[in-house]
Amino acid sequence: MSLANRSLVSLDDLSNEEIEAVFSLASDMSADITNQRHVCQGMIMASLFFEPSTRTRLSFEAAMHRLGGTVITAMDVGATSLAKGESVADMARVVGSYADIIVIRHPWEGAAKVVAEYAGVPVINAGDGGHEHPTQTLLDLYTIKMERNTIKGLRIALWGDLKYGRTVHSLACALARFGATILFRPAPGLELPDHISRKLSTEYKGQIKKLDITEQSGEERLFAVDAVYAPPSSPHQLAMMPDIGLEVELEGGVDALYVTRAQKERHASGTDRDGGKKKYPVVDRRLLKGKEFKQTLVMHPLPRVDELAREVDADPRSLYFKQAARGVPVRMALMSLLLGTIPEPAAQPSESFSRKVEYPHYSRDIGVRCRNPKCVALNEPGYIGAEFQIINGKPLTLRCVYCEHETFPRYIASTEWHNGTVEAKRYHSADSHMARKIRPENLIAFDSEGEAQSLGFKPSRYNRWSVSE
Ligand code: NCD
Repeated sequence: MSLANRSLVSLDDLSNEEIEAVFSLASDMSADITNQRHVCQGMIMASLFFEPSTRTRLSFEAAMHRLGGTVITAMDVGATSLAKGESVADMARVVGSYADIIVIRHPWEGAAKVVAEYAGVPVINAGDGGHEHPTQTLLDLYTIKMERNTIKGLRIALWGDLKYGRTVHSLACALARFGATILFRPAPGLELPDHISRKLSTEYKGQIKKLDITEQSGEERLFAVDAVYAPPSSPHQLAMMPDIGLEVELEGGVDALYVTRAQKERHASGTDRDGGKKKYPVVDRRLLKGKEFKQTLVMHPLPRVDELAREVDADPRSLYFKQAARGVPVRMALMSLLLGTIPEPAAQPSESFSRKVEYPHYSRDIGVRCRNPKCVALNEPGYIGAEFQIINGKPLTLRCVYCEHETFPRYIASTEWHNGTVEAKRYHSADSHMARKIRPENLIAFDSEGEAQSLGFKPSRYNRWSVSE
């Protein structure tokens, strides 16, 4: 294990053992926090925050100061050369030549990955649009571990805006990796995106079961869980117990309730807005009277708006301010490990499996593109091509390597026509048997027949979908 000179763009960049190593160092550092000024003496951290931030930016900056380093900052795109049309890649190259480590928050999903590819120094993603927020997840997991000693086997509820909340997206995957059971309690219309549910069930091998909220008892169900993720180690294997109800899941209580605000700045349409505003669920004293919340840690990445009543602040179960404070030692530990300025702690045994699934890579200048309007690949098309992981053959499913949104191309062809005649330049429907015949490295995918034809491909005998569109 060596974290030196690496970047943290997604929590997938760290194994469970490496995460445990960060925690072990964070705990040592927090015990003697004013005595760490030798660790990064002479180092410079560039703090690039192109979206609002209080905690994340200030805790990173405090962390670097506590480590004895210094900080340079840019906070407003309008005040940087990005506003003059400079690319994210060029900015990364330049800032990487000024600083030893870069911390970036950017509204485009995948922007931190681009910065990491070009900067030449370690880069930390401090939030890329609605995609990920891996250091928030580190301090969330650290808090749970400090309070409960373990994450495996715990039952953790994610509350609020599960659709646009990047903290939730990173945390859900991390909890699955550490073997927790997850209960999803979204605000109406703000459910967890499908691509993340699929990642939970395909990559972490647990099972997601959708629940029918209308069937749940009580005339007004405050804790309206719409889905449960059970890890492979769970005694309640959902597939084997298809009738398992929420009540059974809740018998042992909820170990942590992770509340999030409506991410209004990311709400795209009127539907998101209305759903988010009118029926946004509130955590208050009344909810916490429920027997399932007797021992619950109440957490929130903050800022809080109206979803977490102030009357709960004095409750001993409320942990959010302590959680925020822990951001400093966790970020101190992370930065000193990425900068290689401190010996790595001995390998920490991990509680649960962490297996990185390797998918075939898809990279082409022509054909299908990521369709997420917030993806960096769409916003900086001049030098970022289409890059996907091929995560499924039937239906053909490509996951953008930048923002992780999925796309389901409808037509396919093979590059092998280059070796044959131009007559062989044919396209097929993505659900035909040709999908199995074309090797991943030869695959070209198209969104439409028009796109394939404009690139000189002709329909093959297998260009019809078996099920009509
Ligand atoms: C979160 C964020 O920026 O995603 N805040 C934070 O970093 N602590 C959560 C939020 O803004 O709701």
